[in-house]
Amino acid sequence: MIALSLTEVAQVTGGSVVVPPGLDPGAVVVDGPVVTDSREAGPGGLYVARVGEHADGHDFVSGAVERGAVAALVTRPVEGVPCVVVADTQDAFAALAREVVRRLPGMAVVGITGSSGKTSTKDLLGTVLATAGPTVAPVGSFNSEVGVPLTVCRVTADTRFLVVEMGARGIGHVAYLAEMALPRVGVVLNVGTAHVGEFGSRAAIATAKSELPAALPPEGLAVLNADDDAVRAMAAVTAARVVLVGEAADADVRATDVALDAGGRASFTVHAPEGDRAVHLGLVGRHHVGNALAVVAVATELGLSLEAVCAALESARPVSRWRMEVVERADGVTLVNDAYNANPDSMRAALGALERMGEGRRTWAVLGTMLELGDESDALHAEVGAEVVARGVDELLVVGPAAAALAAGARAASPASGRTGTRVREVTDADDAAVLLDAELAAGDVVLFKSSRDAGLRLLGDRLAGAGEELT
Ligand SMILES: Nc1ncnc2c1ncn2[C@@H]1O[C@H](COP(=O)(O)OP(=O)(O)OP(=O)(O)O)[C@@H](O)[C@H]1O
Ligand SMILES: [Mg+2]
Repeated sequence: MIALSLTEVAQVTGGSVVVPPGLDPGAVVVDGPVVTDSREAGPGGLYVARVGEHADGHDFVSGAVERGAVAALVTRPVEGVPCVVVADTQDAFAALAREVVRRLPGMAVVGITGSSGKTSTKDLLGTVLATAGPTVAPVGSFNSEVGVPLTVCRVTADTRFLVVEMGARGIGHVAYLAEMALPRVGVVLNVGTAHVGEFGSRAAIATAKSELPAALPPEGLAVLNADDDAVRAMAAVTAARVVLVGEAADADVRATDVALDAGGRASFTVHAPEGDRAVHLGLVGRHHVGNALAVVAVATELGLSLEAVCAALESARPVSRWRMEVVERADGVTLVNDAYNANPDSMRAALGALERMGEGRRTWAVLGTMLELGDESDALHAEVGAEVVARGVDELLVVGPAAAALAAGARAASPASGRTGTRVREVTDADDAAVLLDAELAAGDVVLFKSSRDAGLRLLGDRLAGAGEELT
């Protein structure tokens, strides 16, 4: 974090300083990592003690101090540790993040929201911007009321670009995150059906995502997906300039000639105000085209040339784990581990890539449950099952009883003409899937693993890739 004395942290958060006798709080300077997990604490750092359902962060203050944290943000003082005592650590953490951004007026802050692709796009944009200057875009999916201030507090005095992932599980969430990170540029990728169970409807999801463009200042830039009507409509709620990205004819940054190579990697021609250029991505899946267009719009806005952006896009490889991670095994089996998360849209995207990668080969979809789909859950699982059949997947392995509707949907679907159809099998868990796959996988097979936050499937993919032991 940028250097702040304990006195300043107290001022910013409305807290009071409690230090061991004889210590000058103005002389205690936080300039190291700001963490909520004591195991990640380091020299010069600040430990934020959160009180969760299962644990009270105050119990771990001493562990953070042992690792070098110089102070703690707490709701009750901890003996012998320099503390800023506040009424609510969440409010205080948000206020701290906001102040950090305010103190760096030269830093460009980009917010990214959407139902799918936030982390992928954050990673891609982070990779591209890092070619032009110090960039903060942390690996992983830090998109909550805790993840966003953790992200923001990583900046240092020389940070030029800050990329913040913003997730929404309800109305008001993105607005809250935007108040903390104060983005000048906002990207809305899509409004899908992820978390529809919590929101109730797609319209409510759209409202939640629209809070990002709505929060942008008049001198800001809203990058909106032209191919998603619900996102396009957000032009009406923003004071910022709007750049439309997509394949639609009126998109300001547009892709044409989209094709997937035999490895499932997309190529396309990008048409931007600065010119046209052919791009061949190193990432797998057609969905990265839209993500890449958003990156072009943002990075050129922030001063990079179209050529520099496209060159960086082409050399980008997966950053955060379990997102279309491709491993070619020595025995000729190709594994695609996309088991980080799943919703109907990302299932479709991944199955599209599997279809392309599997041309002339035997394809497997090892699929688990999609969480948080509410009343529509069974119907949406069944649709994905039908999609598996429509894509000509040879072997479907449905993992876990909660995904039974997916198997049923596949069994009910009939294959397109000229297709042999899909063999549908159900297994109880990832261990059973492992037994089956170990016995049956053969040279030439392409296997996709995908599910919502199912550590079992991720690790199964890792294990089959030969990396299991270290990762468990
Ligand atoms: N633009 C997109 N449209 C549809 N699917 C996408 C898109 N971009 C990425 N995906 C797929 O969606 C899944 C989740 O990707 P990613 O982790 O980037 O999304 P996220 O929005 O950060 O998700 P979360 O809400 O879990 O943080 C992955 O399987 C990825 O391959
Ligand atoms: Mg994410």
